[in-house]
Amino acid sequence: MSEVLNIEKIGQITDNAISEISKSVSKDEISNLRVKYLGRKGIIPALLRSIRDVDVVDRKIFGQELNVLKNNLEELFEEKINQNKEDLYLSDKEKSLQDISLPGRKKNVGTLHPTSRVVREICDAFLPMGFQVVEGPEIELDKYNFELLNIPKDHPSRDMFDTFWVDWKNDQGEYPLLMRTHTSPMQARVMETTEPPVRVLVPGKVFRYEATDASHEWHFFQVEGLAVDRGITFADLKGTVYEFARTIFGSDRKIRFRCDYFPFVEPGVDVSIDCFICEGNGCRVCGKTGWIEIMGAGMVHPKVLSSVGYDPEIYSGFAFGMGVERIAMLKYGIEDIRLFYSNDLRFLKQF
Ligand code: PHE
Repeated sequence: MSEVLNIEKIGQITDNAISEISKSVSKDEISNLRVKYLGRKGIIPALLRSIRDVDVVDRKIFGQELNVLKNNLEELFEEKINQNKEDLYLSDKEKSLQDISLPGRKKNVGTLHPTSRVVREICDAFLPMGFQVVEGPEIELDKYNFELLNIPKDHPSRDMFDTFWVDWKNDQGEYPLLMRTHTSPMQARVMETTEPPVRVLVPGKVFRYEATDASHEWHFFQVEGLAVDRGITFADLKGTVYEFARTIFGSDRKIRFRCDYFPFVEPGVDVSIDCFICEGNGCRVCGKTGWIEIMGAGMVHPKVLSSVGYDPEIYSGFAFGMGVERIAMLKYGIEDIRLFYSNDLRFLKQF
């Protein structure tokens, strides 16, 4: 038997290898050991080559022993690498080049758009009062945007120049589609498909033919509210709006209702809160009046109820609609509505 290969020697090599591998910690150490034992010029391949010098009768048994050792070592290396994957990820050289005092690179993390934020705040204020959130189409039929809401054909809001019509004619030669001018069409859509009681909130985007300035945009968001049931009165509208105003603008808010006209409510009102900046004394935000308008509202017009198949003798309800950006502007002191959609990160990052 050759000097190189005997059982003792294999045992010794096995012990050495196991102890060295288990002590190794870095990626470099492990890969050096791997080369030392299993590499082309390594210890194990050399031993395997030396089998040819062994007596023919012993060759088989040595061959088997060495192959077992080789496989065991392979496994050991594999395990070691998996155990320390994170530590081993960097070589010693790479580690020495790492400068942990360098400031990290900041990742840009997105935030909610202020409009989305305020839509959520508004909805959250109404949800505890039993309202459910629904959404509707932004391209709407004339029927829902106007007709079912008691807005007759000659009403100014139907003027071609007042709104964006879709350039598509139906069989009767009419243009029935437009970008919705308010979220109120969902009042009719919801009532048409559900039996009372109804209590919904409709957040969504609306579009108007509008010259833009600090307080006007050609597209903006509204949140519509609708509650219909037996015995709903103006007092319910007042209580609901009051609760909302206090949740959003502070618990000591007062509210004011003044007559206003919307064809789909009767009576119609505009709702104001006392100015939370000057406490009603008069300042720039409230235009020196002490009051800030926050929404349009009213009792659902009997004609609207009957046009969707509700009996106005049995059912009554209230509706309201508010501009989301306006609420956001008041809440966060934003002075120009155009900031919302001009995609300036200096503005958006503040939310
Ligand atoms: N739709 C009205 C608007 O856009 C607001 C409104 C909604 C008024 C519901 C009364 C009731 O101006």
